[in-house]
Amino acid sequence: MKEIFQGEVFAETANFDRGIRQLMPRYDEILDVLARCTPANAQRILDLGCGTGETSLKILDRCQDAEVIGVDYSRRMLDFARTKINLAGYSYRWTGYEGDFGEWANHNLSLPGEFDVCVSSFAIHHLTDEMKLTLFERIRSSLKPGGVFWNADRVLPESLALKEVYQERREDWAQSQGTSLAALRTKFGTNVSQGYSGPDRFATVYSHLQMLTTAGFTSVAVPWKYYGMAMFGGMVETVEGDG
Ligand SMILES: C[S@@+](CC[C@H](N)C(=O)[O-])C[C@H]1O[C@@H](n2cnc3c(N)ncnc32)[C@H](O)[C@@H]1O
Repeated sequence: MKEIFQGEVFAETANFDRGIRQLMPRYDEILDVLARCTPANAQRILDLGCGTGETSLKILDRCQDAEVIGVDYSRRMLDFARTKINLAGYSYRWTGYEGDFGEWANHNLSLPGEFDVCVSSFAIHHLTDEMKLTLFERIRSSLKPGGVFWNADRVLPESLALKEVYQERREDWAQSQGTSLAALRTKFGTNVSQGYSGPDRFATVYSHLQMLTTAGFTSVAVPWKYYGMAMFGGMVETVEGDG
């Protein structure tokens, strides 16, 4: 089986966009909610683990003046993203960086400037909880006042019973898409741990919110949750009269 980085999922990158929609119930909906919660007037947006660019594209559609910076450690995924973004006519507003967001969290990779918004989808769950917190702190300190961070990701089921329910829902979803989880798995690559990312290290929504609070976000929210997937994040609110 072909070796891939954690998070690339499919052995052939060309299978990702269709496959992820069969694998993740309501994938487009969670990303649409993330885009909708992103202020339309944002100017600088960071997309961590941008993959083939699906989230970046939704953000570029919504935020017509924004420059989006996509970060991913997989050159294959970045190449796919770049091609799609060029085809959509957004190349002048999107820059892809090949790098590990764990390195960025630890200040070993620099990205230019501060951001109005940071987004991520289906990528951060590859970090340990300790690194998730370090990353959230880095995101927090890289956001301008009034900035916001949204993360769409898989989350840890809150009990064993719910784990079964969530898994059943994923199987039903795959069947409704004309396939099955087993059939989809035959298209997966063999994951090799790369940099800071390892096999799935899910955390509950509750512990994500605690980490975001510890990282200094003044307000946290969960605009969307569906079985084992959630879109949550934190805001850096400006205090009236502050400064
Ligand atoms: C499941 S894909 C999701 C891609 C895209 N965000 C989406 O929702 O379609 C996860 C992506 O995160 C990237 N990734 C995982 N860990 C990473 C890390 N530590 N640094 C940079 N990219 C990472 C993978 O290469 C992959 O492209």
